[in-house]
Amino acid sequence: MNILIIGGGGREHAMAWAFAQNPKADRIFCAPGNAGIAEDAEITALDVLDSAKVLAFCAEHEIEFVAVGPEAPLAEGLADDLREGGMLTLGPGREAARLEASKAFTKDICAACGAPTAASQTFTDPDAARAYVKAEGAPIVIKADGLAAGKGVTVAETEAQALEALEAIFAEGIGARVVIEEMMTGEEASLFILANGTDFINIGTAQDHKRAFDGDKGPNTGGMGAYSPAPIMTDEVTERAIAEIIRPTLAEMAKRGTPFQGILYAGLMIEAGAPRLVEYNVRLGDPEAQVLAMRLGAQLLDACLACASGELAGYKVSFADDHAMTVVMAAKGYPGSYAKGEAISLPETDDPRIKIFHAGTKAGESGLTSNGGRVLNITARAANLQEARDLAYTTIEQIDWPGGFYRRDIGWRAL
Ligand code: AMP
Ligand code: GLY
Repeated sequence: MNILIIGGGGREHAMAWAFAQNPKADRIFCAPGNAGIAEDAEITALDVLDSAKVLAFCAEHEIEFVAVGPEAPLAEGLADDLREGGMLTLGPGREAARLEASKAFTKDICAACGAPTAASQTFTDPDAARAYVKAEGAPIVIKADGLAAGKGVTVAETEAQALEALEAIFAEGIGARVVIEEMMTGEEASLFILANGTDFINIGTAQDHKRAFDGDKGPNTGGMGAYSPAPIMTDEVTERAIAEIIRPTLAEMAKRGTPFQGILYAGLMIEAGAPRLVEYNVRLGDPEAQVLAMRLGAQLLDACLACASGELAGYKVSFADDHAMTVVMAAKGYPGSYAKGEAISLPETDDPRIKIFHAGTKAGESGLTSNGGRVLNITARAANLQEARDLAYTTIEQIDWPGGFYRRDIGWRAL
């Protein structure tokens, strides 16, 4: 079958690479893609927010399955439009995508179904929000309600920081909404679920590294490295997360007439063996997709197809007893301002345990250049995490790109 992947980052490269290993895949297209994805798929400059154009592209190229990578087109309702147009599609519709697009909505779902999460209140009135912060005191967590590419959250250590974060959100103007919540302590991990209504399967766990620099210092980023599985997600913790958080959430969504179909990414905080929900995303994580795809390989396509076609009941993925790690190489300056268009030279490797996924690259006449903040994801798979880590770091040292930087401590918590 011909397949269209929507997106152009490391996550979509990992999806294209895994799908390409599956004999079911004939031609794979990716919009907009990047220079690395072009090795596993045919890239095309399609306006993915224009559903009519996407459907026309699908008709013209005999596409039978569309997998949507990022959250923005899902929140805009692309999956609804594609399904209405008769296309087999992976990803939630606009209503179900609110699990990521609105933190206030997710809090409401958790309250309705009893899923454990931080105590919180939602405000549209700045004075009431300030009064709440003053009454609760610090530490406290301030979240802008909408999609903010991971930048809408302030974990405030002091009341002054919290008030400053509130001012920044309300400065956005009328209609700004803020969720103020209790700061949870514990260890964070992510659980990835493929769901179709109330049927679902677990497709793996991972841990991300959000801060830019070693020692979990510096500003928050989209993620600087990840590994899978997450050791804290023991069978027991995973079962609790499924029973107490995932299953009730999916039931509540179905009950409201907006069943969730696609990838549900649960960001969890685990303390003393008890998981609580930090947030939902409605897609694979980036860079978590890179380690999941490395472990699942060709199965990822079968699992996504089973999900999109409503055949998840009884479906199972099998994990080889292995570990994967990815290290993100980013442009110096990221997540602030950074240069683009710098020459990059990559090592040749035919080692099947290693894959360099491209997140932000461009192919020019003079060769490969940087074209984003997060640029490369050096990913390796091995029998244990230490070996995966060694493979990833040995590979990264062979990359010639003076304008890039990476964390040297990915996996510190697990190793
Ligand atoms: P979110 O976008 O909601 O995942 O928030 C981004 C990051 O902020 C999370 O990955 C956590 O590290 C942190 N965070 C969010 N909410 C809380 C909370 N209630 N308690 C502690 N940390 C939080
Ligand atoms: N790596 C975090 C995310 O994809 O949201």
